Amino acid sequence: MSLVTLNPVVARDKFFTAPFSIQHALSDHSMFELSQLVSLAQSMPRDKVEFNSGKLAPGTKPEDVPQIDMPVADIIRHIEDTNAWMVLKNVEQVPEYRQILKSFLDDAARQAGVDPSLFSDLQGFIFISSANSVTPFHIDAEENILIQIKGDKYIHIFDNQDRTLISECDMELSPSKHRNQYYESGFEQRATIYTMKESDGVRLPYMWPHWVRTGDRYSISMAMTWKTPEVLKLNKIRLMNGTLRRFGLPQSAPGVSPMRDAAKVVLHDAIGLVINPIRKSETMRKLLRGAIYGRAANYYYGASKRQPT
Ligand SMILES: [Fe+2]
Repeated sequence: MSLVTLNPVVARDKFFTAPFSIQHALSDHSMFELSQLVSLAQSMPRDKVEFNSGKLAPGTKPEDVPQIDMPVADIIRHIEDTNAWMVLKNVEQVPEYRQILKSFLDDAARQAGVDPSLFSDLQGFIFISSANSVTPFHIDAEENILIQIKGDKYIHIFDNQDRTLISECDMELSPSKHRNQYYESGFEQRATIYTMKESDGVRLPYMWPHWVRTGDRYSISMAMTWKTPEVLKLNKIRLMNGTLRRFGLPQSAPGVSPMRDAAKVVLHDAIGLVINPIRKSETMRKLLRGAIYGRAANYYYGASKRQPT
């Protein structure tokens, strides 16, 4: 049976240019049961498990997000009562999830008439949220298919060409930036709301602004993400732009100067050759983030420093 069901005409037309709905066949998969997710969270490095209260508004500022001081395992076991929002990051590091992710994206790409060999940096993020939780307004610097596994989710999506919603400066990348973006209620009339029930999903292309709320039950969902050569290039330019802005050197947007863009990509890759081997350790990742981008870059350690339990 196919993992993904989509309208091939719509998918071929919109795959990289606009959101659209899909269906999937993963809602009953054993790797998404709560007991399995407890074991997964306990096995992960602390900086790969982010959680906070889910009682937020779409425009909640990062510094105003209430933390939850509770062991990770207890939050998941009691997700029906903890009013929590949690993400388990980079679950593709676990072979079973990597296999699910790869099979899913291969299937989706083939049906959309896209060559899956162009997809790189496949990453999976599992979201575990209490009822009526909110993920504030933000953008993601990757291609994504968000699938709903348990409960209901409503994803409010906004035009990614509208710079009055999110400016080019706010699209720059930096570890010191919290993902949440400035939001005001007047934006809402520009949203398209996709309702996701179990076995539904939404194709969400690169950097389309969105915020998300869960329904009246706890929710489990997974972001199936990847990058294309174009996304890799844009991210390198936007990371260099964000880093240079931190040192007082604001830059033009990608595409304004192809020569400068190319130079930033070369510089990015040269720095990566030095830094990437060091980043394998969590301690070194934390030190590097703090040294280059300041203390805010480690924001997701939050109030609770305890290890997942
Ligand atoms: Fe997102």
